[in-house]
Amino acid sequence: MKLSAFGEKFTGKSGIVELMDDLGTALNENPDMIFMGGGNPGRLPEVEAIFQQRLEQIMSDPRQRHSLFGIYQSPQGDKEFREQVAAFLNNQFGWQLCGRNIAVSNGSQSAFFVLYNMFAGPMPDGSHRSVHLPLAPEYIGYGDIGLSENFFTATRPNIELLDKHLFKYHVDFSHLQPGDETGALCVSRPTNPTGNVLTDEEVAHLDDIARSHDIPLIIDGAYGLPFPNILFVDAQPHWNENTILTLSLSKLGLPGVRTGIIVAREDIIHAYTNANTIVNLACGNLGPALAKALFDSGEILSLTRQYVTPFYRERSQQAVQWFHQQLGDLPYHIHKPEGAIFLWLWFEGLPITSQELYERLKQRGVLIVPGHNFFVGMNDDWPHRHECIRVSYARDAQTVKQGIAIIAEEVALAYKEPICSG
Ligand SMILES: Cc1ncc(COP(=O)(O)O)c(C=O)c1O
Repeated sequence: MKLSAFGEKFTGKSGIVELMDDLGTALNENPDMIFMGGGNPGRLPEVEAIFQQRLEQIMSDPRQRHSLFGIYQSPQGDKEFREQVAAFLNNQFGWQLCGRNIAVSNGSQSAFFVLYNMFAGPMPDGSHRSVHLPLAPEYIGYGDIGLSENFFTATRPNIELLDKHLFKYHVDFSHLQPGDETGALCVSRPTNPTGNVLTDEEVAHLDDIARSHDIPLIIDGAYGLPFPNILFVDAQPHWNENTILTLSLSKLGLPGVRTGIIVAREDIIHAYTNANTIVNLACGNLGPALAKALFDSGEILSLTRQYVTPFYRERSQQAVQWFHQQLGDLPYHIHKPEGAIFLWLWFEGLPITSQELYERLKQRGVLIVPGHNFFVGMNDDWPHRHECIRVSYARDAQTVKQGIAIIAEEVALAYKEPICSG
């Protein structure tokens, strides 16, 4: 098989594909594996019951059923749904959007593929642009999305050490200097993998920088406001004409319906829609149909407030407690959990790499994600990159507790080893 450059890049080895393969193989080989690796949301019976009721209502109405199964929607997404999303966001946050500011995608991941490649890569004048991540570590799923090489650059964060083994990353504005080669800034807020929530001041500062360079600020709100609202601190959502905000139904409990929502200036939405037509023709109808019913009933807000936010808030606090109990006096730090569905642990001076820790934990029947994968756009020799792991706490409490005990045992053993000089 003779492959194009695109074929070689996208069918070959890439960080995320290898990791997903490895996680999949490990699960197949040991179905009892404690899975704290992937991004699956937790199972909330009350929320699942609401989805079931709404779906049954749609199915019992021949008109709605036909529009769910029997038609291609426009590539920008159902007009009524887009207007509903715009009105909802205006009402919640005082923004001034209309349906033309909204587009639907088959999951936000596919929206990133189109958006990032719209703003970075080879430029018509022969220059090359990259997407800059103002605060690495960032979402692993961005890593291999670029059609060209050297697609991302990133700024190393400042680390604030807090009480009780906690820490928090901040954007290091003294080193954040986008140049002519920067095509966009992008942050996830809340951040996957760390559970960080960039402060309102940080977002305002990033917005200023993006505007002064005439490049967009892309905010990935996969865990953010107004849904799924997996946020444990106060933070103002941010949008203006220079911001591209992406939302997703996945972490609400619907990763299988593959629905993302893009909120942006009309010309950006128009450009995105043209590209999306080529790649997808149209987007799936199930997510918008379910979401429409949830908007109509007001459940889109009540189910996050009543069930989703409290579930993750409580689980994150429990998981931190369990780590404190199990890790005792070891030199560990946990990123302050401010949102999302993961804990990010930093084992300072760990004699083995996070990759080795991942391998050992896999042998012990626990899957986590080794931290170096998240330092997208960063190739320096910062030891910190190999001292962190991401642990999901979305599974049932007993399983999470059991997994944490095993992680702590392996970390304690690793700290007893001599530091490897190679
Ligand atoms: C930060 C972040 N952004 C985007 C995505 C992609 O989500 P989806 O394509 O399911 O909308 C994920 C998935 O885990 C994520 O964690």
